[in-house]
Amino acid sequence: MKNLMRVAALALLAGAIAATSGALLAQQQTLNSGLRGPVPLDQIGPAPRLTPLNNTSERQVRNYPEQPPVIPHTTEGYEVSVNSNKCLTCHARSRTGESQAPMVSITHFMDRDGQFLATISPRRYFCEQCHVPQHTVKAPVQNTFVDVDTVLERAAAGERRK
Ligand code: HEC
Ligand code: HEC
Repeated sequence: MKNLMRVAALALLAGAIAATSGALLAQQQTLNSGLRGPVPLDQIGPAPRLTPLNNTSERQVRNYPEQPPVIPHTTEGYEVSVNSNKCLTCHARSRTGESQAPMVSITHFMDRDGQFLATISPRRYFCEQCHVPQHTVKAPVQNTFVDVDTVLERAAAGERRK
């Protein structure tokens, strides 16, 4: 009887060990396919190399009307701080004649109550909260994002919206 219980306990223990190592293996595999690569969780891997910012004069299509347009030009060294805002030296209403840059949107003059201010609203001051410059890189993780027109086309064709 005693022996039987010992065997049963050992079998349980072996099962538990197998389950844990299986989970660890699965976790390790997820890590390998993730952004951090094969670097173990308790270590910091080498940082990926920085790539240069795209620098074109071609404005990019927005994926839906409310999207903050991405920045087509480089923003390297552009200061946006309490003292100065480099972006506004070209994109402010009064500067567009000289710079030929598109003026900041009219929404950027609205306060949170929808009132139009004479100057840019403080909540739109830090441009890169919403507008981001671009790099030409391979997407680090796959995604299935489609723009709003594709969503509408699918709906019109009777497919499920997804
Ligand atoms: C030297 C002038 C200049 C400065 C400084 C500048 N821009 Fe621009 N920006 C332009 C011009 C001109 C365009 C139009 C595309 C082109 O010709 O490059 C543009 C395009 C853009 C667009 C695309 C607009 C659209 O409708 O697609 C965004 C967004 C933008 N800039 C944001 C910024 C932000 C944010 C900063 C500051 C970090 C900034 N810009 C600084 C001149 C400037
Ligand atoms: C809180 C988010 C946010 C911030 C901060 C912000 N923007 Fe925008 N911006 C948007 C969105 C959203 C749009 C597109 C919808 C719209 O026009 O409001 C836009 C549109 C624009 C456009 C295109 C205008 C046009 O008519 O084509 C320019 C240029 C621009 N922003 C520049 C700037 C600059 C420069 C700053 C900083 C001074 C800034 N934005 C700060 C969200 C933001």
